[in-house]
Amino acid sequence: MKILVLNGPNLNMLGIREKHIYGTETYEDLQKQITSLCEKENIEVEMFQSNHEGALVDRIQAAYFDHTDAIVINPAAYTHTSVAILDALKAVNLPAVEIHLSAVEKREDFRQISYAGMACEKTITGKGFAGYTEAILYLKEKYGK
Ligand code: DQA
Repeated sequence: MKILVLNGPNLNMLGIREKHIYGTETYEDLQKQITSLCEKENIEVEMFQSNHEGALVDRIQAAYFDHTDAIVINPAAYTHTSVAILDALKAVNLPAVEIHLSAVEKREDFRQISYAGMACEKTITGKGFAGYTEAILYLKEKYGK
């Protein structure tokens, strides 16, 4: 099966940004972990990170045409603002899991709304990089072929 892992704005700054919240590991470390998990599980994986809302919308739309089976998405700050990302996820209608490294439900009021989450069948928060592993294994179990 083919999984697309999407990461939104400032996640390229992992290891630098707010280490007390997001930890000391980098985006490159995350990519390495996902690559080795997917090699082991025989999953084709593509990863895409962007700081731009439209680029994320474009990549979600492309998933419809490139035979992606499922999406793992951490929309980062766009979680709480982007109807465009919600609509793109609804448009492609692929199984999707929402990830947040931090426990967003315990943070500021403005983080309590998730638009993207409305198009995701599962949300995993507060587990750091392990959340991505859980999401990928969940999607493989349910939709793997
Ligand atoms: C985040 C939580 C968001 O509220 C925040 O804007 C991020 C990262 C997380 O992974 O915990 O950039 O999505």
